[in-house]
Amino acid sequence: MVITTTELIKRFLTTVNRENKTIGLVPTMGFLHKGHLSLIKKAKEENDLVVVSIFVNPTQFGPNEDFETYPRDILNDTNLAYKAGADIIFNPNVCDLYPEGSNTWVNVEGDITKVLCGASRPTHFRGVTTVVNMLFNIVQPDRAYFGQKDAQQVAVLTKMVNDLHMNVELVVCPIVRESDGLAMSSRNSYLSEEERAQAVVLNEALQLAGKSYKDGERNVVALIQLIEIKIATMPLAEIDYVSIYSYPTLAQIENIVGTAIIAVAVKFGKTRLIDNEILK
Ligand code: PAJ
Repeated sequence: MVITTTELIKRFLTTVNRENKTIGLVPTMGFLHKGHLSLIKKAKEENDLVVVSIFVNPTQFGPNEDFETYPRDILNDTNLAYKAGADIIFNPNVCDLYPEGSNTWVNVEGDITKVLCGASRPTHFRGVTTVVNMLFNIVQPDRAYFGQKDAQQVAVLTKMVNDLHMNVELVVCPIVRESDGLAMSSRNSYLSEEERAQAVVLNEALQLAGKSYKDGERNVVALIQLIEIKIATMPLAEIDYVSIYSYPTLAQIENIVGTAIIAVAVKFGKTRLIDNEILK
């Protein structure tokens, strides 16, 4: 069933909640790929009812970003989502979630939203936390599913759920990759053939650093340098950031102790790709 208004989905889910069925929510912006589908499959295993939201959320895009051109294919998405186990597709329009005069934000403060993607996209996480909050309020899921691909998003949402004592369990699913290692992303569709071939360098560089870490390297500067040199071998790659922080706090560190994240963002032409590796 595809439901396109908040009013209808709320009405429908009230009945489900009364029947004591568990609800799993998978928030997406659509143009679904195997990464999204892995979340839907996991949600299906763990819940009586799976709601997949498909909504390209304008408030998480900056003024010069790709909101208008973000790839959309609701028919194909609907088919893929059903096959993976979705029971309900929630596909609202912008005016429904953000009616005229809507001006309330959920904002996780501090470095956690200011470093990495928050540095180059200053209003991005405010948009994410606000829309995810809306979806939680509308769907009232028992569990919500997110991908480790967007590791900072997971860290920020976990903090939001903890800080606000929200009654939902966040389930984090591993990164799904293409056969050559490129992390699946809706934005991969923007890449030219040449850019696509060179984009494997993100994962290759992370693997290289991962190996060096396993061999004993703990110095953040040394590991970052290794990655930067590897990425620079691809002429079309332009580094936005290569960073290592403690995870999930995203606090600055000089040497790795405890769990850390290596996070990279690299531009190929106008396309910005992200990837990460957790070091334990
Ligand atoms: P979107 O980029 O469509 O991603 C939806 C979910 O799929 C996110 O939790 C993301 O981490 C996960 N995902 C994407 N690529 C993945 C991959 N290769 N492997 C595993 N999981 C992957 O993230 C968003 O949308 C939005 O910010 C959203 C949370 C929906 C709020 O608007």
